[in-house]
Amino acid sequence: MARTVRFHELGGPDVLRVEDVDAGDPGPGEVLIRVDAIGVNRAEALFRSGNYIEPVKEFPARLGTEAAGVVEAIGPGVTGFEPGRPVSVVPGFSMNDHGVYTERAVVPASAVLHRPDGLDAIGGAAVWMPYLTAYGGLVDVAGLRPGDTVVLTAASSGVGLAAIRLANHVGATPIATTRTRAKKDALLKTGAAEVIVTDEEDVADRVLGLTEGRGAEVVFDAIAGPGVTDLAKVVAPEGTLLLYGALSDEPTPYPGFDLGMPALNMRTYTVTRETTAHPERLLRAAAFISSGLRTGAFEPVVDRVFDLDEVVDAHRHMESGNQVGKIVLTVGH
Ligand SMILES: NC(=O)c1ccc[n+]([C@@H]2O[C@H](COP(=O)([O-])OP(=O)(O)OC[C@H]3O[C@@H](n4cnc5c(N)ncnc54)[C@H](OP(=O)(O)O)[C@@H]3O)[C@@H](O)[C@H]2O)c1
Repeated sequence: MARTVRFHELGGPDVLRVEDVDAGDPGPGEVLIRVDAIGVNRAEALFRSGNYIEPVKEFPARLGTEAAGVVEAIGPGVTGFEPGRPVSVVPGFSMNDHGVYTERAVVPASAVLHRPDGLDAIGGAAVWMPYLTAYGGLVDVAGLRPGDTVVLTAASSGVGLAAIRLANHVGATPIATTRTRAKKDALLKTGAAEVIVTDEEDVADRVLGLTEGRGAEVVFDAIAGPGVTDLAKVVAPEGTLLLYGALSDEPTPYPGFDLGMPALNMRTYTVTRETTAHPERLLRAAAFISSGLRTGAFEPVVDRVFDLDEVVDAHRHMESGNQVGKIVLTVGH
């Protein structure tokens, strides 16, 4: 039996229960992982509350797509992994099918990566969702190049901090936004060239001022909602406004007409649909990220670590919005 987080109804953090569940055996194409650490992501809070892009299909439901641990067993047809191998699980499956908030998880081998040397379980559970999302969105989809400027909203999130590092790594200039002054220094320390405090400053004025009126080649937005109108004003000609999250729960307009029909390229991006679902794209992204981890250009940024039994507190902490970087659950065996 494996201690496993499940929920029997939709709701806030309090619906989460730690229960003993049979982990099962790996089927064809699957791997059984002894989970040592789990990456906590906004997607889980949205799934738990019924607001995710995919609804819960049946109760009790499981949670989690990002973890690190060790291979315990492999199913028929799986190659490249052997028991004892340190690995990470990356978001590449539906939480209706598998969940990694548990001591032992069966997951598709296509969502398992060898853990680079020197990356411990906590780092291995904190690094992939942020960097895969930043790489897939900024490099693969938006084509971020040296010399470009990129605006990163809600930049203190796990993805935002990875995007700051990645932008610097490719020779682009990252401009970060945050709501209050509290996280400004942390963002500058991570490598943001400029930080805009949105409760006090006008994003459009600041970005246009910093770019001599040109705007940013890429705007990578985790907030959406009415703020996209101001963000659209700062997209440079031929640039992209890429929406990858909806932290605002207000409707999101398409601002192209109000702005006089500029050549506004505005689209959504999800790492699961556009990066991890495609083996060749996942491999390319993983190679890029592993190389950055080896050189020290990239590193996991962990805000706080909770025990699996403290999952309710971990979700409350995520929803407080006070974090800088990733929240991780650890599993004692
Ligand atoms: N598309 C994808 O494939 C993909 C992958 C991963 C994550 N995501 C999305 O990316 C976003 C960030 O996820 P995450 O897990 O890295 O971090 P997170 O924990 O959801 O992000 C936290 C940060 O967002 C800011 N924030 C929170 N609520 C906000 C609000 N209502 N309006 C504006 N800012 C708000 C806060 O920063 P400040 O206090 O500094 O403002 C907070 O530190 C989420 O929306 C998530 O769903 C998408």
